[in-house]
Amino acid sequence: MEKTFAIIKPDAFAAGHAGKIISRIYEEGFRIVGLKKLFLSKKEAEGFYAVHRERPFFGELTDFMSSGPCVVMVLEAEDAIRKWRDFMGATNPADAAPGTLRKDFGTSIGENATHGSDAPETAAFEIPYFFAGLELL
Ligand code: RTP
Ligand code: MG
Repeated sequence: MEKTFAIIKPDAFAAGHAGKIISRIYEEGFRIVGLKKLFLSKKEAEGFYAVHRERPFFGELTDFMSSGPCVVMVLEAEDAIRKWRDFMGATNPADAAPGTLRKDFGTSIGENATHGSDAPETAAFEIPYFFAGLELL
């Protein structure tokens, strides 16, 4: 079993889609190992997306991620990292395949409903950024 880190981003949370997304996560066969609602500060969002700090969209991205509450989760499944990325769909909802979360709930490349770790090293940074070990028992 593998763990990955996921976020229901502020756009999807504000639109009232968190319940539907969590329901789809269970239907897809993930176990939710950790889950909490957070309202990230700008600084917390910058730390989380530090890998993108040189990118032109960094300011916009971290403004958006700190614009309202989100739901952070640790999901477990076989091949969870790839499975969750596939289930989210392409970064730009316009390119996302039918049946994916970003197709159904994303509205633009910036406001694309969900986040997922993109590699084991990324998950190894992202999970402990948000969760203590005792929250994942
Ligand atoms: P994420 O990290 O949120 O799961 O998304 P991702 O791997 O599919 O995409 P990534 O390249 O890591 O980009 C992180 C987030 O930055 C926003 N973005 N905006 N305006 C733009 O050209 C642009 N490109 C990326 C997206 O919200 C993306 O999810
Ligand atoms: Mg990414």
